[in-house]
Amino acid sequence: MNRLSNGILDFANMAVCSGLLVSTYDAIPEVKNETQNVCSVTCKDSGGDSGSGPRTIAFVCCDGGGDSNTNDDISLVDSGYASFPMFVFLKTEVNRSVSIRKAAIELFASIFDQLSVLKDQIDINRPLIVTGRSLGGSVASLFTLWLLDTIYLKTSKTPLCLTFGSPLLGDNALQRAISERPTWISCFLHVISNQDQVPRFLARGHMPFGATLFISESGCACFEDPQSILELIEATSLAKLEGSQFIDYGSMLKRLKYKAIRQGKIEEADACDISDPVKCGITLQLLAIEAIKPENIDTSPLILSIRRNIERFRKGKKNNSDQTKKLNEVKVYMACMGWYKKQSKNQGGYYDCYKTAESKSKDQGQTKEDLVIYQKKLNKYWEKTVKDVDRMPKREGATSIRPRVLYAGTNYRRMVEPLDIAVYYREGNTDYINKGRSQHYKLLEEWEKSSSKPAERHKVSSTTEDSCFWAHVEEALIACRNLTEENDTSTEDKESWNKSLFRFEAYVMSLIRMHTLSPETFQEGSSFMKWWEKYKTLRGISYKSDLTGFMNNKKVQNDLLVLDEYKILS
Ligand SMILES: *[C@@H]1O[C@H](CO)[C@@H](O)[C@H](O)[C@H]1NC(C)=O
Ligand SMILES: *[C@@H]1O[C@H](CO)[C@@H](O)[C@H](O)[C@H]1NC(C)=O
Ligand SMILES: *[C@@H]1O[C@H](CO)[C@@H](O)[C@H](O)[C@H]1NC(C)=O
Ligand SMILES: *[C@@H]1O[C@H](CO)[C@@H](O)[C@H](O)[C@H]1NC(C)=O
Ligand SMILES: *[C@@H]1O[C@H](CO)[C@@H](O)[C@H](O)[C@H]1NC(C)=O
Ligand SMILES: *[C@@H]1O[C@H](CO)[C@@H](O)[C@H](O)[C@H]1NC(C)=O
Repeated sequence: MNRLSNGILDFANMAVCSGLLVSTYDAIPEVKNETQNVCSVTCKDSGGDSGSGPRTIAFVCCDGGGDSNTNDDISLVDSGYASFPMFVFLKTEVNRSVSIRKAAIELFASIFDQLSVLKDQIDINRPLIVTGRSLGGSVASLFTLWLLDTIYLKTSKTPLCLTFGSPLLGDNALQRAISERPTWISCFLHVISNQDQVPRFLARGHMPFGATLFISESGCACFEDPQSILELIEATSLAKLEGSQFIDYGSMLKRLKYKAIRQGKIEEADACDISDPVKCGITLQLLAIEAIKPENIDTSPLILSIRRNIERFRKGKKNNSDQTKKLNEVKVYMACMGWYKKQSKNQGGYYDCYKTAESKSKDQGQTKEDLVIYQKKLNKYWEKTVKDVDRMPKREGATSIRPRVLYAGTNYRRMVEPLDIAVYYREGNTDYINKGRSQHYKLLEEWEKSSSKPAERHKVSSTTEDSCFWAHVEEALIACRNLTEENDTSTEDKESWNKSLFRFEAYVMSLIRMHTLSPETFQEGSSFMKWWEKYKTLRGISYKSDLTGFMNNKKVQNDLLVLDEYKILS
């Protein structure tokens, strides 16, 4: 038997054998009053007073009347649910409507004060298990999501949420919102017995998230991909059982544990074709949870369907690790660009060197063709990265971009956007900021500005901080040209160009004062100096301003530039 294909089965047995499931289930108090529309929460610490063992928070909830099949209870409400807008953070840009089961949100809301107190007492350095059965498990999931978005937001630690026989919590959009955060999705393990009707009442319109461990009297199997879980929930549904029969997960798990230890492996191993280990593995799992019967192995469409789901799901996952590999390539491209930038310093500066460079100049080691390739690859990588981050669940005003990614993104923006601007104006376009700027640059800049810890004014690459600086220079050049051309233009137009030039002057001065303009800006022949020559002529000899003061005083200028260079080195 191929071990790889059996990995999931092994995990399921391991989960059952570890005893964690049984001890967690035992921490859930018995339901006291089935008929009341109530939810209670208890807290149990193991490991004695030393407080070293895990803390278990357990939810017991009943949603009134025991008839959990009314339309009202199974209805989904928007996560921004008007009277209790607790879960708006789950909305994403791609899908603004995330729906959560109404009964679960209402129960959560009913004990919210108690939960707030409990949340404040949680020590994130201590392992935490959040659990519940039936609807209690749904509230446990909501509580876990809330913790993930608050106290666990800035750590790599996570709680573990174990639910038993819980109805599905929300729709496809909820599943996607959670799955887009790998650390979030890995917090959830749902246990579902093939004898339990509760998780099956509501399968339609809902979508599971996290891993699900299916158990039956004969075995267990664990699945991760939502589509397979949904199909299995439907497939393992027994013929209508009477009402809400109480399933004792504790004893079922104990029997399974005993069985798994005693037998080691499932017996039916010889029941399938070992020349196709993947199919064989899936068949064994489906047999174990009684989703198919031994006599249906050859005819059940479920095996093929689950296989397709799993393969699609794995492919999606593989793409994530491709992203990591790409990040390393991206670092190399950035290094090459940095090197080009250094070389171009005395050849008209980074911007103008790129804008005017002869295609074939080889003397710099990096030809311009190389640079164009790096520029394209970097743009492609960051466009995708920014899009992915933007789709992540987010709270108002807060982005979910990690500080390290934002730091790399800011470096990229300052390094590559000037080149995009150079291409844009070289091709004769105008008004880059309003008409040419790509959305991903805008978002990167926005995030950098709103991040609580603004990226330090790192000057390692001596890149001008405003990545749009050169677009402003180009526009100022055009305004100068507009003003000097002898056309029949209205005085209003002239005035507006005139004003925009004063604004540009003030903008340049502010950058100079903040030491955020790189020295090569002032090099002979740069676009900025071309503008300055034109501008000087336009204003005339008698014109005096802060900028003329700065530009005409070599000493002030040198002081500033030397200071700048010094800062680059230190
Ligand atoms: C359960 O709650 C209902 C409604 O509050 C109450 O009438 C009933 O007496 C309770 N039953 C028990 C056993 O506490
Ligand atoms: C958003 O979610 C709803 C509900 O699951 C779904 O019908 C809709 O197609 C989704 N929209 C997108 C753009 O994914
Ligand atoms: C994985 O990435 C490739 C190329 O980057 C893409 O064509 C494919 O659709 C992606 N697969 C999934 C499942 O997202
Ligand atoms: C220059 O003049 C053209 C034509 O009137 C106008 O469309 C453009 O906005 C002006 N550009 C600047 C930077 O003032
Ligand atoms: C001035 O006229 C020339 C030639 O017709 C034209 O190319 C240019 O855009 C005009 N400039 C302005 C500011 O309108
Ligand atoms: C620009 O504005 C200044 C101050 O308002 C004025 O002195 C100057 O004549 C104007 N120049 C042009 C070309 O309109």
